[in-house]
Amino acid sequence: MKHGSSKARFITFEGIDGAGKSSQIDAAVALLRAHGIVVEQTREPGGTPLGERLRELLLHESMDRETEAMLMFAARREHLAARILPALAAGRWVVSDRFTDATYAYQVGGRGLDEARFAALEQWVHADFQPDLTLLFDLPPRVAASRLAGSGAAPDRFEREQHDFFERVRAAYLLRAQRHPERIRVIDAHRSPEEVRAEVETIIKARFLS
Ligand code: TMP
Repeated sequence: MKHGSSKARFITFEGIDGAGKSSQIDAAVALLRAHGIVVEQTREPGGTPLGERLRELLLHESMDRETEAMLMFAARREHLAARILPALAAGRWVVSDRFTDATYAYQVGGRGLDEARFAALEQWVHADFQPDLTLLFDLPPRVAASRLAGSGAAPDRFEREQHDFFERVRAAYLLRAQRHPERIRVIDAHRSPEEVRAEVETIIKARFLS
């Protein structure tokens, strides 16, 4: 391997719906693989057969906000136990489209879930474990909404939420980034995909590939 450390890393991508992270994740995974790193690309909610079934429910069934938070963490527990932790233990890097910061942003920020309940679930499901690096794609919700509208895809339960909801989600993401500056890097996603990709590449190279 060409990279400096043999320790497998866990990298997560976050942002409001429409922030443009999907294509950036593909590019980041391609960059790591080009450096000889074995990478598992995954997502939340999802990433395991059970997690994908929970995803269907979470994205399409209406439910109480605490049920929603617990199902997010149930899917995450399965993801950690069946996929993320075994991959890291075997030396494979893991890149996930969303993780616990999304629960903080969407359930605590967006839905108004009690923060102490969130903290208790986080502690239960992955006490001392956190991503090595989180890239937070930040942009104004109105810009993200117009990108989503242009995509033509049918909106899910979250994407159908109103502007205020996404303002709260964005604010909660930024608060979480302020609290964990060593882990979470905020990327201005209100730029061209090429500019964003260049910044992602610079951060990953500086952090892991130099
Ligand atoms: P995705 O569209 O980026 O795959 O994410 C699915 C949706 O699930 C997205 O609108 C954000 C939401 N979500 C939460 O509300 N809480 C969570 O913990 C996660 C992982 C996702």
